[in-house]
Amino acid sequence: MLKAKIAVLVSGGGTNLQALIDAQNKGIIKDGEITLVISNRKDAYALERASKHNIDTAVVLRKECKSQEEFEDKLHSLLVENRIDLVVMAGFMSILSGNFTDKYKNRIINIHPSLIPSFCGKGFYGLHVHEAALEYGVKVTGATVHFVNEIPDGGRIIMQKAVAVEEGDTPEILQKRVMEEAEWIILPQATQKICKSIIGGR
Ligand code: GAR
Repeated sequence: MLKAKIAVLVSGGGTNLQALIDAQNKGIIKDGEITLVISNRKDAYALERASKHNIDTAVVLRKECKSQEEFEDKLHSLLVENRIDLVVMAGFMSILSGNFTDKYKNRIINIHPSLIPSFCGKGFYGLHVHEAALEYGVKVTGATVHFVNEIPDGGRIIMQKAVAVEEGDTPEILQKRVMEEAEWIILPQATQKICKSIIGGR
C-alpha cells in the first residue's frame, strides 16, 4: 500500500518521536511511514530511539553552517533525497524561515505545548511554556498541532487538546501531564490525518 513518507525533526529526548513510532506500530498512523529522523543536536536521545527502530537518521548542525540559508539548504536536500512528503517537527528547537517553509506549504506540522494563541511564538519552547502558564495562573492549558509557516507558531491549527492545571503544579509536573494527556495523543492523530489527505490527493 502506498504511504506518505514522513521525516521527523527533533532536538532532544524524543518522547513525541516515540509516540509517533508507537502509533505507527499500532496502526494509528496507517497512511504514513517514518523514514527519516533529522536532529540539529548530535547528542539528542531521539536519535537513539530512531536507530532502535531501524529508522535512518541525520544530524545537521546550525553552527557548522555559515548561514541560516545554508542550514536550511542542507535540510531541504535531505528531504528531497529521501522523497519526503510530510515533515513533522517533534520538539525541534530551531525556527525555520519563510524561505524554507514556503517550499513545504501544508507539508510541515509542529507540536506546541500550549493552547495557541496562548504562550507561543519566539522564546516560548519546552519548559518555558509551562513556566509562563503557571506564572500567569491559567487553570487550563494543553497542546496544539499546527501547520508551520514563516510566523513562529502562527500556522493554521490542526488539532488541540486541553489539560487541567492542578494545585501545586511545577513546570516539570505540568510538562509531563501535557505530554501524557495531550501531545502524545494528538501528534500521532494529526500526523495520520495529514498523511491520509496526502495519499488521497495523489
Ligand atoms: C515537547 O513538549 C514539545 O511540545 C516541545 O518540546 C518538547 C520536546 O519533547 N516543543 C516546543 O516547545 C516547540 N516550540 P520531546 O523531545 O520529548 O518530544
